[in-house]
Amino acid sequence: MTEIDMLTPVLTDNWGDERSWTLEAYTAQGGYRALARALTMAQDDIIAEVKDSGLRGRGGAGFPTGMKWGFIPQDNPKPKYLVVNADESEPGTCKDVPLMMASPHTLVEGVIISSFAIRANTAFIYVRGEVLHVVRRLQQAVREAYDAGHLGTDIHGSGYDLDLVVHAGAGAYICGEETALLDSLEGRRGQPRLRPPFPAVAGLYASPTVINNVESIASVPSIIANGPDWFASMGTDKSKGYGIFSLSGHVTKPGQYEAPLGITLRELIDLAGGIRQGHELKFWTPGGSSTPILTAEHLDVPLDFEAIGAAGSMLGTRALQIFDETTCVVRAVLRWTEFYKHESCGKCTPCREGTWWLVQTLGALERGQGSEADLDLLLDQCDNILGRSFCALADGAVSPITSSIKYFREEYVAHLTHGGCPFDPAASTVFAPAGATA
Ligand SMILES: Cc1cc2nc3c(=O)[nH]c(=O)nc-3n(C[C@H](O)[C@H](O)[C@H](O)COP(=O)(O)O)c2cc1C
Ligand code: SF4
Repeated sequence: MTEIDMLTPVLTDNWGDERSWTLEAYTAQGGYRALARALTMAQDDIIAEVKDSGLRGRGGAGFPTGMKWGFIPQDNPKPKYLVVNADESEPGTCKDVPLMMASPHTLVEGVIISSFAIRANTAFIYVRGEVLHVVRRLQQAVREAYDAGHLGTDIHGSGYDLDLVVHAGAGAYICGEETALLDSLEGRRGQPRLRPPFPAVAGLYASPTVINNVESIASVPSIIANGPDWFASMGTDKSKGYGIFSLSGHVTKPGQYEAPLGITLRELIDLAGGIRQGHELKFWTPGGSSTPILTAEHLDVPLDFEAIGAAGSMLGTRALQIFDETTCVVRAVLRWTEFYKHESCGKCTPCREGTWWLVQTLGALERGQGSEADLDLLLDQCDNILGRSFCALADGAVSPITSSIKYFREEYVAHLTHGGCPFDPAASTVFAPAGATA
């Protein structure tokens, strides 16, 4: 395969265009044609096309998008809502923000088609508040869409009305969890809700609500324009289509690479110019810091939901953070753990107290204090958090710890042997094996 064959620029296709974020540029390259088609279709047919395409949620869990839309009870007299999850706060994840900056109209068009399909007359884009530049860009795109008659009342004479609100959160990782997001959107402190009821039945303002990731909704126009078979022709058996893979860290050309699901890390690293010169891959995350780390032995695992799951991790948000041999895995994992402690919303005890204890135990190990028994204590603490907490934030918090101990136990032990980090900060490349003295 050539590089060109491996990449499938759909969402990213117009990112290099002059003023790609404007309505004028987006329309010039065929934008809003899918909306025109959708408005002539029966709403259930749109849902059927999205189902047939095999599109699975791009926000991490990979739930089939069309099936989720089908759960909305259409006989419920309450208003229906579409909420786009644009919180994007997972360490390493960097796809929704660039998409909204480069081509906000792809998302706006997707919102209109998706809202029409589920019979919502109000939609929200919930954006992480710290990215003010994205909020402004979205607001500008929404204004342009109203002016062009793509939003508002009686859209293009179809009789369909839609209002789209861009809502800026205050900046909290937990507000990306879909039910915490809903509480935050309603003006409450963002903390996860008990399920059931699920948002499809009682979501925003206790009304039927679809919550989807930015990339999921932005993929809808291309499916409606090109058909479900076109989408399903890419990817693997159960993980269809294309996705944005964000490569960060120790690669020559970090960035967003859009490719079919099932591409391997080896192929993506090649596209990214290789690991930085003179160095080699040590470990990586397939989908952000909440997905168990993998190593060089997993370079040829297809990046789809099934194969990455079978390899002991999760595809997550395809946030590929690449670390070479100069990185101390214990220190990297400690940084992530501090993040989870800071972002724990405090609602449940295993996570609120547990993430605090993880930082204490791991921090001591990183400083070379304690004994090997503390490694088992750390694993025991993880065991008391995993599956015993209210939401998936806590499961994500233990992933990097347990997976790094699985692959790099000797590096943890070396911290104890050396009385601190065994990496030589001057050379910044040397890992002295266990038993050596500092
Ligand atoms: C702690 C936490 C943070 C999350 N952050 C995000 C996020 O920023 N964006 C997102 O789309 N999904 C996030 N999710 C997943 C959402 O709960 C939900 O599954 C997703 O928005 C559904 O959209 P999709 O089906 O299109 O993937 C997060 C989940 C958890 C537990
Ligand atoms: S697991 Fe953590 S983030 Fe989730 S509800 Fe409990 S305290 Fe809050």
